[in-house]
Amino acid sequence: MERQDFRFFHRLRVRWAEVDMQKIVFNAHYLMYFDTAITDYWRALALPYEEAMQQLGGELYLKKAGVEYHRSARFDEQLEVALKYSRTGNSSMVFEGAIFRGEEWLVGAELIYVFANPATQSPLTVPEALRSLLARFEAGAATVTLKTGDWLTLGPDAARVREAVFVQEQGIAPALEWDEADHSAQHVVAYNGLGQAIATGRLVRHASGVGKIGRVAVHHALRGSGVGQSIMSALVNEARQVGEAEVMLYAQRSAQGFYLRLGFVPRGEPFDEAGIAHIEMFKTL
Ligand SMILES: CC(C)(COP(=O)(O)OP(=O)(O)OC[C@H]1O[C@@H](n2cnc3c(N)ncnc32)[C@H](O)[C@@H]1OP(=O)(O)O)[C@@H](O)C(=O)NCCC(=O)NCCS
Repeated sequence: MERQDFRFFHRLRVRWAEVDMQKIVFNAHYLMYFDTAITDYWRALALPYEEAMQQLGGELYLKKAGVEYHRSARFDEQLEVALKYSRTGNSSMVFEGAIFRGEEWLVGAELIYVFANPATQSPLTVPEALRSLLARFEAGAATVTLKTGDWLTLGPDAARVREAVFVQEQGIAPALEWDEADHSAQHVVAYNGLGQAIATGRLVRHASGVGKIGRVAVHHALRGSGVGQSIMSALVNEARQVGEAEVMLYAQRSAQGFYLRLGFVPRGEPFDEAGIAHIEMFKTL
C-alpha cells in the first residue's frame, strides 16, 4: 500500500496511554485510530454526520473490521491514518485504511459498514446520493459549492445556518440576529454534496467605498476544514467586484485569529455587542 493510493489523511500522535511495556502501540488502539479518522473523513466530505444520515434515511454501522499489522508504531510518533472509499454492495460500504509513518506502511485495514434503519437495525440499500458523493470525492471533486445571491433567493438557507450557530449555539436573541440589512445584503451560502446549507456570511454597504462583512457562520461539525475561509474569500471578492476600497467587520474576539490569518487588521478598542466581546477589523482591497 502506498501513500499516493489515498487522498484523505488524518494526522495523530501516539500517546502514552496507547503503548504497552515494549513502548509500542497496543494492537487494539489502531481500530480507534481508524474510527477517529472516519469522523474526519465525513468532515472532509463536508457532511455533518447526523444531519446527513437523517436526510439519507439511515445510519452506518461497522459490521466487520479486519486489521493487518506490518510494523509497530511507538510513543510520541506522528502517524497518518489514510482512508478511502473502495466499493458499495447493496447495503454495505467498504473502506480501505492504512496507517503510515512518513512513507512507511505500518498497518492496513478493511472496514465494512452497513447502511441500516436505526430503529430496527435492518439493512437498507445505500442511497445513490451517498455512493456518488463518495465516488466523486475519491476522484478529486470539490465537496462544497458556493452560491451568492440576495435574501429572497438564499435567505431560507442562510437563516437555517445562522439560527443554529448564533441563536441556538451562541444564545443571541432572535430580535438582534434578524435585521433590515439582510434585505439589502449580498449573501453567500456554502452547500455540501447533499444540497445541505453548511455555512454562510453576508456583505452590506457600510459607508461610501466600505463594505461590511457579517453573520459569518459555519456548521459546528464542519469547522476547521476551510469552509469559513471559502465564505470569506467569496465575500471579499464580492466587495472587490462592487468596487469597494475596504472591507471591515466586527469580529467576535474568539474569531479574531481566523480573520487575522485572512489579512484583516484590528482597529480601535474591543466593545460589547449582543453580550459578546467584539473588535473592529478591516482589510484594504
Ligand atoms: C469563525 C468561523 C467562521 C471560522 O470558520 P472555519 O470554517 O472554522 O474556519 P477555517 O477552517 O476556514 O479556518 C481558516 C483558518 O483560520 C483558523 N481559524 C479558524 N477559526 C479560528 C479561530 N476562532 N481562532 C483562530 N484561528 C482560527 C484555522 O485554523 C485555519 O488556519 P490555517 O489556514 O492556518 O489552518 C467558525 O469557526 C464559526 O462559525 N464559529 C462560530 C460563529 C462565529 O464565531 N462567527 C464569527 C462571528 S464574527
